[in-house]
Amino acid sequence: MADAEFLTRANDILMNVYGFWPVQFAKGKGVYLYDTDGKKYLDFGAGIAVNNLGYNHPTYVKTIKRQVEKLHMGLCYVVDPNRLEAAETILAVSEFDQVFFCSTGAEAVEGALKTARKWSYETKGEGCHELIYVKNSFHGRTMGALSVNGQKQYKQGFEPLLPGTHEAEFNNLESVRKLISRKTAAVIVEPVLGEGGIIPGSQEFLEGLRALCDQHDVALIFDEVQCGMGRIGTIFAYEHFNVVPDLICLAKGLGAGFPVGAFMGKKKFTSHITPGSHGSTYGGNPLACAVVTTVLKELLKPGFLENVEETGQILKEGLEAIARETNMISNVRGLGMMLAADYNGGEVKPFIKELLKNGLVALSCGENSLRIVPPLILTKKQAKEGLAIIRKTLRPG
Ligand SMILES: Cc1ncc(COP(=O)(O)O)c(C=O)c1O
Repeated sequence: MADAEFLTRANDILMNVYGFWPVQFAKGKGVYLYDTDGKKYLDFGAGIAVNNLGYNHPTYVKTIKRQVEKLHMGLCYVVDPNRLEAAETILAVSEFDQVFFCSTGAEAVEGALKTARKWSYETKGEGCHELIYVKNSFHGRTMGALSVNGQKQYKQGFEPLLPGTHEAEFNNLESVRKLISRKTAAVIVEPVLGEGGIIPGSQEFLEGLRALCDQHDVALIFDEVQCGMGRIGTIFAYEHFNVVPDLICLAKGLGAGFPVGAFMGKKKFTSHITPGSHGSTYGGNPLACAVVTTVLKELLKPGFLENVEETGQILKEGLEAIARETNMISNVRGLGMMLAADYNGGEVKPFIKELLKNGLVALSCGENSLRIVPPLILTKKQAKEGLAIIRKTLRPG
């Protein structure tokens, strides 16, 4: 655990945006974290749906070590083989023609929004810059991404944001239909709401969005920063729904702990991003790109995605059993290893702290829900171990 003095010092000199937890992790191995006292924690948070390969993964570590010794940072104007290989590897398993590498999820969202707006401006004309997003969505904290965030609390104090943004309802196609027009550049949506409560889009909604965007010549952007990269059992979430967007945003699991993001798209849209219209100093650096290729290769190994589905199912069924048994959680939902349940015992945050005390790292999301997003290498046995901790913490004894 973190001692009081350490936390006081941290709270004094680090900007207070998180409300630090009373723990200090010293190392990680597989799906386990160890604090400075040597106490072991099973990790059901994975750095907020990031560390898909867990900690100290041998191939991951080898890639980083080897690349750091060779060339950790190049020059964004100079393509090195790593960037090309990462691009080829990810495009080969996707429906897209071009990719731009950046460093975070918000940056990926900014890039996709800019691409849609530039395409719209150049093909439909001035004034066609409007953006539609959905209530309870989360797309990041930068000003553009914030403008399309569907959670008011994140916007407070930062307005005015981008003009011409409109909020629709998630899983309500009619609400989008009412707002869409030729002036719309893009509709942006998470196929599975992440921060907003782990709520999968309905098949009807996502298919309807595709048809609506085609009908009005509007770009459809899927923000898969949280639900992509194997999290729900397919490399990209859009594969699960069989609905292909025009642009996609990725980060989190893309680097599995190394800060890298990307947006990809069809040439119809990405060809409007020309020299000078976008860039990123760190984007596509050799180290980040070596990591992307390694992560993708791991995800593509036989059995990897099957494990996400099968072990995810065990977690889901286990949570449903706990819900029936204790009545302390309800509304178990999600796909693959992106799961949540409502907590019925009041505020969820103190419960998360109790879980931590009992050796499980878990997260919250939405109004008052418990979120479970473990490393994707979690085994069935480890899933049961975590479920037992949740069960014990809900009803001790
Ligand atoms: C769906 C989604 N988009 C974008 C972001 C922003 O990513 P980052 O924190 O890397 O900027 C997040 C982060 O939680 C997210 O869940």
